[in-house]
Amino acid sequence: MPEARYLAAKLLKSIADVARASPRGYRRTMNAPRIRVLATGGTIAGAAGDAIRHDYKPGQLGIEELLDRVRALGPSAQLSGTQIANIGSEDITPAIWAALHRETSAALDDAQCDGVIITHGTDTVEETAFLLDLTLPTAKPVILVGAMRPADAVGYDGLRNFANALQVLRSDEAAGRGVLVVMGDRVIAARDIRKARTRGVDAFEGFPRASIALVTPSALEWFGAPWRVAEPARFAFRPDLPDVPILYVHAGMTPDYVGRLVTPDTRGIVVAGLGEGNMPDPVRQALRLLAAEGRAIVRSSRLDEGLVDREPEDEENGFVAARALGPPKARILLQLLIASGITDPAAIQKAYDER
Ligand code: SIN
Repeated sequence: MPEARYLAAKLLKSIADVARASPRGYRRTMNAPRIRVLATGGTIAGAAGDAIRHDYKPGQLGIEELLDRVRALGPSAQLSGTQIANIGSEDITPAIWAALHRETSAALDDAQCDGVIITHGTDTVEETAFLLDLTLPTAKPVILVGAMRPADAVGYDGLRNFANALQVLRSDEAAGRGVLVVMGDRVIAARDIRKARTRGVDAFEGFPRASIALVTPSALEWFGAPWRVAEPARFAFRPDLPDVPILYVHAGMTPDYVGRLVTPDTRGIVVAGLGEGNMPDPVRQALRLLAAEGRAIVRSSRLDEGLVDREPEDEENGFVAARALGPPKARILLQLLIASGITDPAAIQKAYDER
């Protein structure tokens, strides 16, 4: 009898272990997920008209042509596509973001849709991914993919990145991690990602987490469990994002650079500071005056990786520390905060602290 009790306890423990391994209590792989694909252009849809030319135009392939090429790989997935835009991502606008957000939200609300894949240029993918990460719920996966080589180039990486995204989306553990970017056989969370190299298929880095999973078209290895399970959107999407320029600090900078950047519409500035968010003292004094006028000043770093922590003078200067967010993502968060009516430095700091 004691042995039966021991075996029963052991069985209960293994059930509890499995439940702990996945916050929803089980692991499942979807065989043929129903996926909405939203296309915005970029090199993944780019073409040169010649397999070995260096110059090419992003945003040349339409969504149906891209999906035909994906379907030819024979994936077990049901794909339906919508063309949101067909641009190089340097031309992304708040209006395109609004359309993308509207279509993604509609897909996530649709019971017949298991997840969303967004094709996007790599140059601004970190901004789009982070904006969506802050403004979408996490119940279903949303994945952005791009390519570093155009669709007619030797070694086109777009199809592999797309096949990897399908592999991620089939995993029951893809949801609950916020918006993800799949590039170069890695899965990087929207909050961490940045484009780090101008060329090569391994162009992205993550900070502070380098990757949250490694992926190939046939395998997927997550590092850790989902941490944002069934979270609602953190912010309402706002198409009316305010003017928030980035001040890139350099040696010998004088305060008149600050004056050149600011217009009457400027609601805040993100400082891409030296080292841990530093700047020459005359620049600091100019920014201090702007903070006293009610403009939000966020100190981040022009370095690729590193925390910018609060320093004692931030209190008296009215400044905010961006923590681990680099300038482009720090800017998106500040725009959303201001558009949501959050303008007090302490409340802004809290949002950066909660990353
Ligand atoms: C773009 O961002 O649209 C061009 C570059 C790329 O997609 O790699």
